[in-house]
Amino acid sequence: MPEILGAAGLTVELGARRRLFGTRPGVRAVDGVDLSVAAGETFGIVGESGCGKTTLARTLLGLQREASGEIRLGGLVVSGQDSATARRQRAAVQYVHQDPGAALDPWWQVGAALAEGLAIHGVTDRAEQRIRIAEMLVAVGLDPALANRYPHELSGGQQRRIGLARILLLRPKVVILDEPTAGLDLSVQAAVLRLLRELRDRFGLTYLFISHDLSVVRRVCDRVAVMYLGRVVEQGRAETLFAAPQHPYTRALLAAAPRLDGAAAGPSLPGDPPSLRAIPAGCRFHPRCAQADAGCARLEPALVETSPGHLTACHHARRAA
Ligand SMILES: Nc1ncnc2c1ncn2[C@@H]1O[C@H](COP(=O)(O)OP(=O)(O)OP(=O)(O)O)[C@@H](O)[C@H]1O
Ligand SMILES: [Mg+2]
Repeated sequence: MPEILGAAGLTVELGARRRLFGTRPGVRAVDGVDLSVAAGETFGIVGESGCGKTTLARTLLGLQREASGEIRLGGLVVSGQDSATARRQRAAVQYVHQDPGAALDPWWQVGAALAEGLAIHGVTDRAEQRIRIAEMLVAVGLDPALANRYPHELSGGQQRRIGLARILLLRPKVVILDEPTAGLDLSVQAAVLRLLRELRDRFGLTYLFISHDLSVVRRVCDRVAVMYLGRVVEQGRAETLFAAPQHPYTRALLAAAPRLDGAAAGPSLPGDPPSLRAIPAGCRFHPRCAQADAGCARLEPALVETSPGHLTACHHARRAA
């Protein structure tokens, strides 16, 4: 399938501020990310809290400006724009918020929030809006009567479904799902994942699926990128990446993940949680890596093909012949 959303050398700086005496430097939350998401696939992004997943999503959407690099949408370069133009150009990319409650205005009934999206697309007739909203609520598995409720009158699972309904009314091609199952119990999680698959097939969507729940990513994603401190350190087909991870960080993440089969999780990741304010020289994972040697502390490894279709940024991973 052709690429629908891509990035090359994408770098994002956050929090730089001018102060009375000089400037406070920002942090580089996304640092040289290359991605290519094919139409129709579910592409996972995993990594510890703070590694830059949401920042990457906001930048692809055009809500956060990139410092450098390129973003492509449907074969066109769409980066380098001011924020209003960027959002307009990237209307085909929509975002389902990490915190579904925060994405809904507490003073607006669900129906009014959904009508707003329709109005953007020129559907302003009240009767037609009501019909389309009811249809979409049914499509996401909700009772159309929920249109009269306020966000605080909904469960977390219902809020997520409303969040999906709202963006689907905007007719996106790519949907960025930020932690779509976080905070849901297992049965609701399974229902949300089933719904996501149905909606993908029905509306011809492509998903960028951000999560730190590896068991979920393994089940639903076609390909996965693993991020560490703003960089992609490994990328490949989900089956391969989970069955034979090549980067020590991916191996450590997998070992530390809670297991569904009830077996005890392995040791948690060694060392301090990483900070963007003090990125280690060389390979940024080296202070926490059991395999690290002097070379790793000196030279940052490039993301290279280590087996067909599989990329790894580690001096110790074997390169493809
Ligand atoms: N406005 C800001 N100014 C400075 N630093 C920021 C700002 N927003 C986020 N950060 C930092 O940028 C880094 C990346 O944040 P981001 O929200 O993208 O992480 P994440 O991978 O989505 O984490 P989580 O899994 O917890 O959602 C974090 O270290 C965060 O502290
Ligand atoms: Mg996040």
